[in-house]
Amino acid sequence: MRRPLLTANWKMYKTVPESLAYGHELLPLLGDLIGWEESLDLVICPTDLALWPLGEELASTPIRLGAQNLDPGIQGALTGGTSGFLLHEAGARFVIVGHSERRKFFGETDVIVREKTEAALVAGLGPIVCVGESAEERSRGETLDVVHRQVQEALKTLQTPQMMAVTVAYEPVWAIGTGMVPSPEEAQRVAEAIRQDIDELAGTEARDQVRILYGGSVNEANLQSFLDTPDVDGALIGGAALKAVNFANMARRVVNRDSFPESGQ
Ligand code: 13P
Repeated sequence: MRRPLLTANWKMYKTVPESLAYGHELLPLLGDLIGWEESLDLVICPTDLALWPLGEELASTPIRLGAQNLDPGIQGALTGGTSGFLLHEAGARFVIVGHSERRKFFGETDVIVREKTEAALVAGLGPIVCVGESAEERSRGETLDVVHRQVQEALKTLQTPQMMAVTVAYEPVWAIGTGMVPSPEEAQRVAEAIRQDIDELAGTEARDQVRILYGGSVNEANLQSFLDTPDVDGALIGGAALKAVNFANMARRVVNRDSFPESGQ
């Protein structure tokens, strides 16, 4: 049984004081969800600058932090770089790798995504590897081919124990920040294909354990429709997770999912 995972990707938003204010606001909002950590993992990915102070703020809670990127090197004369070890030391336990914004604006190739995935694992970080097709690729019917290539290229060198530490996020590029989402059936079709790839690469144990997230315009109203599919285990949330109250409400929906009568309502 895979525990649901909600991950907030703050992108390049929030100063350090704003990050701390969010943490301060979030905890009481989760206060009445006694034992929520039994049925849900929560991860926040702030800017690197906020990792250490926010980690201190949340130290006594089950909330974990992730970084949004890492450099593949370990240490050295790499001006401006931030290694996985530095991020881990600063409090991160996860790291987003290969987000489409990094692929698009920072020129990250499949090879770089693989190097970063491997470097994350060496540093003890759980990589959240992002894959997803563009609008053009979707319109040409290439979704499964694109995702298959990205998953294979990112993960093909991993042994089973390493694969177990990976999370894959299916984020269709056309759904990010647009308010458009695939149907839950479409997301399920892609998630199922990703799980098949993981099976081929690392066997059935990894296939059954690796969590697959959906990301792209997730909000309180549509979250549950994705979680109701068999192969989507959580969400990677941008804009809708920038307010603590919204993130807390999404957590509430997952923890109390049986109490919400209608999927997607
Ligand atoms: P939005 O939820 O704002 O569409 O962003 C999704 C995303 O890119 C998360 O990584």
